[in-house]
Amino acid sequence: MKMSDHQPGKSGLLERVDAERHFTDPGNGEAAWIEVIQKMDEVYADLVRYQVELEEKNSALEEAQRFIESVQRSMTDVLIVCGINGRIQQVNRALEEITGKSARQLVGKPFATLFEDESRKLVAYFPEKIRSETLYDCEVSLIGSDGRPAPLAMNCSSRFDHEGRLVGMVLIGRPVGELRRAYKDLHATHNELQHAQQQLVHAEKMASLGRLVAGVAHELNNPISFVFGNMHALKRYGSSITHYFNALHSGDDETKLRKLRDDLRIDKILGDMGSLIDGTLEGAERVRDIVQDLRRFSGNHREAPQRFELCPVVRTSVEWVVKAARRKPEVVLQMAESLEVVGNKGFVHQILVNLVQNAVDVMENLPTPRLFLRCFREGDKVIVEVRDSGPGIPRENLMRVFDPFFTTKEVGKGTGLGLYISYGLATDQGGDLRVGNHPDGGALFSLSLKAA
Ligand SMILES: Nc1ncnc2c1ncn2[C@@H]1O[C@H](COP(=O)(O)OP(=O)(O)OP(=O)(O)O)[C@@H](O)[C@H]1O
Ligand SMILES: [Mg+2]
Repeated sequence: MKMSDHQPGKSGLLERVDAERHFTDPGNGEAAWIEVIQKMDEVYADLVRYQVELEEKNSALEEAQRFIESVQRSMTDVLIVCGINGRIQQVNRALEEITGKSARQLVGKPFATLFEDESRKLVAYFPEKIRSETLYDCEVSLIGSDGRPAPLAMNCSSRFDHEGRLVGMVLIGRPVGELRRAYKDLHATHNELQHAQQQLVHAEKMASLGRLVAGVAHELNNPISFVFGNMHALKRYGSSITHYFNALHSGDDETKLRKLRDDLRIDKILGDMGSLIDGTLEGAERVRDIVQDLRRFSGNHREAPQRFELCPVVRTSVEWVVKAARRKPEVVLQMAESLEVVGNKGFVHQILVNLVQNAVDVMENLPTPRLFLRCFREGDKVIVEVRDSGPGIPRENLMRVFDPFFTTKEVGKGTGLGLYISYGLATDQGGDLRVGNHPDGGALFSLSLKAA
């Protein structure tokens, strides 16, 4: 029987004294005796009460201990508690599992022996450092149960006793093996995504290139036809000159030669030659430029940012698209004589082609389509505004036009990538692309670029 089972107040001692009082003569000594016994009873009752309290506290303590143990057991993070001397006082199951050593083997050992060489040098400073600060996310590695390093992100803080004296430190480490693997996977996926995006840009570029071919062909037709014309003229001139030279060498007399010279119009030929050759060269140069633009446009490589004159790029972009359009809009171009920007010429070309193409598409069925282009400098930026006389963009779509695959065109007509890619190309070179509707109607896109 436990002491606490005894009911205080019903002590056998007092009962007996009560009973004896009936048979003996009550006197003064006896009263004192009774008092003593009463006191003893009180003390005994107190004792029993204390005992009960103690037992209750003890079981609460045991409960708390079990709770703490269960929490420590369930922790996936590693816990190491050390004394001021750096010797391990307590560890949890996570550490036992990682190191393959039991708590009994570990307690009393210097904590640094748990770590592999490189980390050991680092953790050697922990006891000193925690005096002034708590350490967060230190990358350290334990020696794993298989002898291989087990990487952890470790926090370390000082531990004080109830009087505020430093008595040791607490190390908590999160295994980061999983995290590292997840990070590696993420990295690989990100790379794949980037690759896919590059391909997408290229595919979209090729698609727009296809649409542009008609315009470019028209562009090429012009210089090529006057190169041809000039060459035919030069050929004719050549045979006249040969004829005249032959006469010169055969020793014909002066008057005959003069007549021949007039008939063959040698003087006019000599006067024309220079401009014919210049014109031919110009035509050839124009062809070379168009081919260069085309190559830049279709190129999948990333050019380093360069300084270039924006106006010719704007002109060719518009020409290419407009020439290829079924219904050619009236183009109103408004730009300064010279606007130098820094960026990627090919990208700017591609963006403008996309914007102009969209404008042309949206005005396809208008009786008098008009396209307005305005380029101007604003602070350290150069702005290119592309505006059309179409219906504009509904409010609810304004936020979505830059989303990939957002298109209101019929299936097969648009991929919905044009603006998404253009936006990326603009921001890639430190610029920006914005959309809105003009108060006088029509959509207004403004491309901002870095001024040179
Ligand atoms: N000038 C404009 N006026 C009205 N709506 C426009 C204009 N430009 C773009 N949009 C709207 O934005 C959508 C997305 O344009 P985006 O250039 O990204 O793709 P798309 O032209 O539909 O297809 P893709 O360019 O890939 O062939 C268009 O389908 C259209 O609804
Ligand atoms: Mg488009």
